[in-house]
Amino acid sequence: MHLYIVTGSSRGLGAALVQQLSAPGNAVVGIARKSNPALKAEQWTLNLAEPIPAAERLQAWLRANTAWQSATLINNAALLSEPGLLAASPLDDLSAALRVGLEAPTLLSRVFLAETAGVPTRRILNISSGLGRRAMAGSAAYCAVKAGLDHLSRALALEAPDVGIVSLAPGVIDTDMQVQLRGADPARFPEQARFQGLKDQGQLQTAAATAAAIVQFLLRSDFGKTVVADIREA
Ligand SMILES: NC(=O)c1ccc[n+]([C@@H]2O[C@H](COP(=O)([O-])OP(=O)(O)OC[C@H]3O[C@@H](n4cnc5c(N)ncnc54)[C@H](OP(=O)(O)O)[C@@H]3O)[C@@H](O)[C@H]2O)c1
Repeated sequence: MHLYIVTGSSRGLGAALVQQLSAPGNAVVGIARKSNPALKAEQWTLNLAEPIPAAERLQAWLRANTAWQSATLINNAALLSEPGLLAASPLDDLSAALRVGLEAPTLLSRVFLAETAGVPTRRILNISSGLGRRAMAGSAAYCAVKAGLDHLSRALALEAPDVGIVSLAPGVIDTDMQVQLRGADPARFPEQARFQGLKDQGQLQTAAATAAAIVQFLLRSDFGKTVVADIREA
């Protein structure tokens, strides 16, 4: 059996990934605060803003469930704090965004790498963003999280050369995250009009199409050769 662990599974890109990975021969575990009744996969309702208990749950589960042909961790969950300048952002929102977006992937990766050591094929896919590579005012914590994921991936690729590790920008996807960006107050978030324009001009990909491209990318024999990648150029 091939194991896939997908965070942020309740909606958006994560739900589409879980749906498409839920095929015979695969065991899929989704993690989010809510479960999605439309998904057939096993789902754990966990708050990744509390990353240590989440990582401990994964650790115990991986110790009890072994003998995989391959194991893949997809760190997809992210939490956007209310778009606006850092100086005006609530402290608890910023802290949660950093814990969900960067601390949780780091701890889950730590547990995954330690507990799947005997699995012949292993992959970690971190869902990054163009904003990890190009800064934007109004989402400083998100930019930092995604730049952090890119560099975490580079460092882990040096530590674990036998594991395929990629930090992937997925393009612009029509999910709740885009609703939040274009619904933001333009007085607080100077880029609001640009996100509204992306929607108006039909430039958003569906979650299903993006997930299909990512699943194909995951299964490529050269997965991990380029650690920091963009699905639009892959
Ligand atoms: N949409 C885009 O245009 C775009 C562009 C570039 C990169 N990305 C990246 O793509 C990934 C997926 O984004 P998306 O657009 O699908 O986002 P989304 O629609 O906002 O979904 C986010 C997912 O993360 C989960 N999540 C949020 N906070 C959580 C928490 N505290 N604990 C556990 N799970 C939590 C949510 O589930 P619950 O609410 O049930 O917890 C949900 O399943 C993210 O990493 C995002 O940064 C998206």
